[in-house]
Amino acid sequence: MILNTYDFDAAKKAAPAEEGPRQYYFIEQARAVLRERFEAMVDSGEAMERYGSSLLGQLQAEGKYGTFHIETFGCQMNSRDSEKLAGVLDQAGYKEVDGEDADFVLYNTCTVRDNANQKVYGRLGYLNTLKKRRSGMMIALCGCMMQEPSVIEKIKKSYPFVDLIFGTHNIFKLAELLCGKLMKGGRMTVDIWEGTDAIVEELPVDRKYSFKSGVNIMFGCNNFCSYCIVPYVRGRERSRRPEDIIDEIRRLVADGVVEVMLLGQNVNSYGKNLEQPVSFAQLLRQVNEIEGLERIRFMTSHPKDLSDELIEAMRDCKKVCTHLHLPVQSGSSRILKIMNRHYTKESYLELVDKIRAAIPDISLTTDIIVGFPGETEEDFEETMDVVRRVRYDSAFTFIYSKRTGTPAAAMEQVPEQVVKERFDRLLREVQEISAQVCGRDEKTVQKVLVESLDDHKEGYVTGRMSNNTTVHFPGDESLIGRISDVYLEEAKGFYYMGRPV
Ligand code: SAH
Ligand code: SF4
Ligand code: F3S
Repeated sequence: MILNTYDFDAAKKAAPAEEGPRQYYFIEQARAVLRERFEAMVDSGEAMERYGSSLLGQLQAEGKYGTFHIETFGCQMNSRDSEKLAGVLDQAGYKEVDGEDADFVLYNTCTVRDNANQKVYGRLGYLNTLKKRRSGMMIALCGCMMQEPSVIEKIKKSYPFVDLIFGTHNIFKLAELLCGKLMKGGRMTVDIWEGTDAIVEELPVDRKYSFKSGVNIMFGCNNFCSYCIVPYVRGRERSRRPEDIIDEIRRLVADGVVEVMLLGQNVNSYGKNLEQPVSFAQLLRQVNEIEGLERIRFMTSHPKDLSDELIEAMRDCKKVCTHLHLPVQSGSSRILKIMNRHYTKESYLELVDKIRAAIPDISLTTDIIVGFPGETEEDFEETMDVVRRVRYDSAFTFIYSKRTGTPAAAMEQVPEQVVKERFDRLLREVQEISAQVCGRDEKTVQKVLVESLDDHKEGYVTGRMSNNTTVHFPGDESLIGRISDVYLEEAKGFYYMGRPV
């Protein structure tokens, strides 16, 4: 039943209490409002002016009443969240468009390093200019950065044109929040939760790729590495029930997905807090049984919790890709201890040996932080030593960024110049090794999942091998989402040129 479209209090009263149905109800209410406004705009000719004839035609053909754009910052968890947010906006009657010139613009933010925050502030000014030209445009912010009280203060003060702010714990509430804004309007709405135990299943999702998908297996983090803000903004660790995960993947497969990425801040501790505890290794084995699924990836593995049971499962499960992202952060046992990582240089290297003995063709990648407080030249040399010994396929290198509220923020910082110089040395080493390592499959035939047309070369497609290396080879659109056998003719450093066989 659609109520009087401008009585939000009545809508709230009439809404089901259970979160899933409740949000579907608000999607319908929002849709009714959007439709009414859109029809009025069409009648008055404003719609033609606002969208132009081509986009207006598309909106009408698709039964949409406006446009939205989501900009995602940060990691795969945020990307997956954005697909859920897009699913809600799509069903509420908005059509997704590329640029920020849209009726509803949402920034899903990250705060892991300060430059992530700066990017958001930098673009808000631009959004304000757009908003001045577009009546009724709504600007919303969500994600990790919004869980920091100091950020909210700053936005209230310096960016008062923002309409809606919500956090990481209540993204499932978007439809209800949107409905409130549409029906009641008013100034900035801020809805931030400090934490939650709730895991709301079954909301709509609008996937970016038809053939691959992220799947959350857990939320939050309990590790409190001393430099990291994630546990403060994502809350405590919560695992989804294995049956919910399996159901979701089955549905994805039925919908054309062949590759899943199981997502969590530390997947190796999956399932420990469930009513009936299940290990990540057990979950992998269950996922591996799903018919029609071709590839399984996962992210991220904390070295401290990587068990022998998991190594065996990775070895046995044929769908599990030959790639492991194993963040080391530092090669110095002294620094690792202050980082609160719970492993040493030696135990990390032993783990790498064990994994390589079990799965010889595995590709290893990592994350490294340079310039953690108190890092000496000797500590840094230990990191370089790990890089030379492990010989990673690739490594994400980060300059330490001070995050307010974390223990490391109060420690003595390394001078910027010193950090910069170390960072450059590390990057050179990492790239040199990576160029040598990545070429090792040259002149072999490999299975490649085609992801897109090649951006740079006409008549070519781009895909990934099981170990995540990129391959370009001749082909057309019909190959997208399919796995092809490709002969790797030439290694080009970080990618291959190949031909289909
Ligand atoms: N849960 C994952 C990491 C998530 S954050 C894990 O533990 O591996 C992704 C990466 O950002 C981290 O691995 C770390 O290398 C980097 N990072 C986190 N906090 C940082 C900070 N304060 N400064 C610089 N890099 C940081
Ligand atoms: Fe941050 Fe450590 Fe948790 Fe990873 S495991 S998200 S680095 S606290
Ligand atoms: Fe950033 Fe939040 Fe991910 S802080 S790295 S988007 S969990």
